[in-house]
Amino acid sequence: MLIRIPKGWEIPDAARYNNFYEFSSDKDDVYLKVEKFSVRPWTIEISGLVEKPITFDPDDLLRLMPMEERLYRHRCVEAWAMAVPWTGFPMKAFIDTVRPLSKARFIRFTTFHPARRSNPFTWNAPWPYTEGLTMEEAVNPLTMLVTGIYGHPLPKQHGAPLRLVVPWKYGYKSIKSIVRIEFTEQRPRTFWNTVIPEEYDFPANVNPEVPHPRWSQATEKMIGTGERRPTLLYNGYEKYVAHLYA
Ligand code: MTE
Repeated sequence: MLIRIPKGWEIPDAARYNNFYEFSSDKDDVYLKVEKFSVRPWTIEISGLVEKPITFDPDDLLRLMPMEERLYRHRCVEAWAMAVPWTGFPMKAFIDTVRPLSKARFIRFTTFHPARRSNPFTWNAPWPYTEGLTMEEAVNPLTMLVTGIYGHPLPKQHGAPLRLVVPWKYGYKSIKSIVRIEFTEQRPRTFWNTVIPEEYDFPANVNPEVPHPRWSQATEKMIGTGERRPTLLYNGYEKYVAHLYA
């Protein structure tokens, strides 16, 4: 099911300020450009180092997973931030269900190829968008696979039908509209780390003391109010994740 925004209903700021380069390199028109894109039927393939490679319909997955709502900080590498209530389930519950082999050390996530859109955006980049996590990061209790926001099914601009959310990392790790989840032994190549490796590293952990080569990460701008606030180490989730990098 997709959200239909009723006339007169105010669209949350989060739904009109999006990074989704398959549709646009601007943030304020993604929600308009996704309109003709169809997210049903949709399949997600589980492959690589896993006991049972399968392809499933995301709607079937929802019935099996322990759904919950969580309010998370959401911090983009571009130094804008917001807090967002996501609906989804812990990535660990999903991993326990698909049973990766003990050799699996990383997970690679892939989005649909932009050629699947009706009028592809022509930026020549290493499509499709991919991202990756270590297994330890993926099973951390904070890591979620997400199907909803603000109590509604995920709108297309936020990555329907299924996206990743890793709240202690810059937003580019939180890949949208996933079509494949692959368990690997080697660290996978990822989209932004391939396009500009010196600006977008693989771990992408939020850190106020490590500036981006072109701007400071010491503060962040809240979308909606415009307020500037100090950036927090691991986006405020230090207690839950610092041990992963000790
Ligand atoms: N996933 C895909 N497939 N394509 C993208 O361009 N942008 C990333 C991430 N996931 C992106 C993506 C970036 S840079 C950010 S900050 C977040 O999505 C933004 O998520 P939001 O639009 O839901 O706030």
